[in-house]
Amino acid sequence: MPVREMTESDLKQVLEIQRELSFQDWNEAQFKAEIKASYALCVVYEAPRAEADASSNIIGYAVFHLLGSDSELLSIATKAAEQRKGTGTELLKAGLSRLDFGNGDRMFLEVREGNEKARRFYEHHGFEAFGKRNNYYADGETAILYRKTT
Ligand SMILES: CC(C)(COP(=O)(O)OP(=O)(O)OC[C@H]1O[C@@H](n2cnc3c(N)ncnc32)[C@H](O)[C@@H]1OP(=O)(O)O)[C@@H](O)C(=O)NCCC(=O)NCCS
Repeated sequence: MPVREMTESDLKQVLEIQRELSFQDWNEAQFKAEIKASYALCVVYEAPRAEADASSNIIGYAVFHLLGSDSELLSIATKAAEQRKGTGTELLKAGLSRLDFGNGDRMFLEVREGNEKARRFYEHHGFEAFGKRNNYYADGETAILYRKTT
């Protein structure tokens, strides 16, 4: 499985993906804090390279928080050119499995109302919308709250 825990040496590529998709604006220090936090799980999807090429090839990442039996998906992203090939699904599944998600556990997230791609992705994975927060984002966009239960 090409999903593994994120390290500080992945951050250059992770920040590039975030910049390309412009859906969030965490800085390097914020990612470093997440990597270190005991309550956070940060993962990357590293696509295999040709044998002779030892450099890493990160095409997606995700950040989760575990809060007892409740967890939160804070961020998930796949490079634009690699979307719709199952990378996001692998990242989400790895998160759910490493968080030992099951038996009454719940996962929450919020997403911009107009982020259709992400909303279809979450709905595909059994998340259901249960509320909204008007004016949640700095630009005034509404957040839709989703949860997944077992
Ligand atoms: C949301 C995101 C992570 C999905 O990643 P992905 O690697 O493309 O996802 P997958 O290929 O695993 O998609 C799984 C399923 O989700 C649904 N889905 C994903 N992208 C979709 C889209 N653009 N339109 C409709 N359904 C979509 C489909 O059901 C898809 O299955 P299918 O391709 O067999 O039809 C990706 O679109 C992304 O990085 N978006 C920008 C960043 C972002 O907005 N992140 C979420 C906010 S934190």
